[in-house]
Amino acid sequence: MSLDKFVDALPIPRVIKPKGKHNGVPYYEVAMKQVKQQLHSDLPPTTVWGYNGLYPGPTFEVRRNQPIMVKWENHLPYEHLLPVDRTVHGADPDQPSVRTVVHLHGGRVRPENDGFPEAWFTKNFRNKGTKFLHEVYYYPNCQRPTTLWYHDHAIGITRLNVYAGLAGFYLIRDEAEERLNLPSGKYEIPLVIQDRSFYLSGERRGELFYPSLPNELPPPPPPNPSVVPEFFGDTAIVNGKVWPFLEVEPRKYRFRILNGSNSRFYRLRLSSGQNFVQIGTDGGFLEEPVIVKNQDGLLLAPAERGDVIIDFSNFAGQNIILTNDAPSPFPNGNPDAPLLPEIMQFRVKENVSRPDRSEIPTTLSCLERLDPNNVPVRPNKLVERIEAGRLKLLLNDMEWNDLPITETPYNGTVEVWELYNLTADTHPIHLHLVQFQILNRAPITIDNNGIVIDVGDPVDPAPNERGWKDTVRANPNEVTRIIARFGPFTGIYPWHCHILEHEDHEMMRPYEVLDNPNFDPSQPIPGECPDDAFSQCFDCHPSSNHDCRKNEDYEESSDESSD
Ligand code: C2O
Ligand code: CU
Ligand code: CU
Repeated sequence: MSLDKFVDALPIPRVIKPKGKHNGVPYYEVAMKQVKQQLHSDLPPTTVWGYNGLYPGPTFEVRRNQPIMVKWENHLPYEHLLPVDRTVHGADPDQPSVRTVVHLHGGRVRPENDGFPEAWFTKNFRNKGTKFLHEVYYYPNCQRPTTLWYHDHAIGITRLNVYAGLAGFYLIRDEAEERLNLPSGKYEIPLVIQDRSFYLSGERRGELFYPSLPNELPPPPPPNPSVVPEFFGDTAIVNGKVWPFLEVEPRKYRFRILNGSNSRFYRLRLSSGQNFVQIGTDGGFLEEPVIVKNQDGLLLAPAERGDVIIDFSNFAGQNIILTNDAPSPFPNGNPDAPLLPEIMQFRVKENVSRPDRSEIPTTLSCLERLDPNNVPVRPNKLVERIEAGRLKLLLNDMEWNDLPITETPYNGTVEVWELYNLTADTHPIHLHLVQFQILNRAPITIDNNGIVIDVGDPVDPAPNERGWKDTVRANPNEVTRIIARFGPFTGIYPWHCHILEHEDHEMMRPYEVLDNPNFDPSQPIPGECPDDAFSQCFDCHPSSNHDCRKNEDYEESSDESSD
């Protein structure tokens, strides 16, 4: 038995409105709730966790340099919806089963508002993790217009909390973007693609299925429930509906596509054979639009975003399927992992309701190329171990809590990070706080002891990767080189693999941006594009609406708002 495809219309997550203002800063409240939601018309409503009771969560629409505050509240039950492995770090039996903390993925925020894995809290803030600081988060939005997303980040159960539904969009906009005259309004649609599995019969029919044990049971037997090395669902869900359809007019649309899956990669194509025109990546607009050819497909690892234009104008009256042929795990595949060859359907109407006056501009944004000459290079290794019969993936052979913190860039400095992948799979590596650029990837030769004995010639990133990124695919047998300017804030941030099963099982490390007495982040940096400027985060002039005083004193106002 399986579910029929393309029977439900694609939902568009609603935009959240602030509850009011605190010191002139829009103030939001979001409660995480367990609700029943109809994910497919042939299924009974499914129990999910949603921000404000919505899966996916409501979309934040904010303006660049106009900060907001959000009070995130946990109204979830005390018992988890999904099997919690109590042997995973941070989920030990003496910890509450349900813990949450919200991370704004790709956001340039201070560490105390970043959603640190141990800054979790339970219902009514009754229990708090060791790094919990305050109830209200401050988001300065001092970065390029782009597609961010927010999702849960609680230590040891992120994979389960996100799978249960805790994720949503966060869009930053500005005037420069509006001047581009891209498709907008109802012609601009966010799509979060996820894979899930369901109980399709029996008492739990319609409920989410998440495995409690790995597929291949190794000796010695793992604990039950056990973390699994990866999860691949057999059902595609877009914006919270199973295999939905979307009626479109024969004209241009802008889609902000997010891979919100735990482990699955997607290589997306349109069954009509047409190309995507990609305009943006994780961190905002590319310099100019890039044609992603149908034969190449649009490849998105977990947490990657592709901002694309699809032009349906030559396809009036046709049905077009968004397809996927990425192997799971990526890139080598495993015959046991369910394929997900179809994602959703576009039904192109016969006529437009009004002429399409939107454009695909020839240039999109200013893009500073960070210079790799004479900057520190940090070699990092992605490795795998077998522990208690289970696969464990690690960064630099260290676990989340191992000391010292080995990655310690100084505020304002540019560094190259090398990611030597000694494992068999591609890992989407994500750094908090910064947007980086991909320099290149080079083949590596590894001897039997896992030592890199040869590094080949570097290969440029694909044209649609030549923008700002916060998540990069580090392929097996390659070194992937990225470059970032660290800052503008100091403190400890995570970097990790965004395969959530890896992240929860120690493929995550802290890094610390150290204070730099020679660097003043409030002063412009030569060569910086205005969109990227660190200084905008400290800009106090009245027209910007971005009050740096409040930025520092927000703790006070958050107390005020939490009573
Ligand atoms: Cu999208 Cu540390 O996460
Ligand atoms: Cu992040
Ligand atoms: Cu990984």
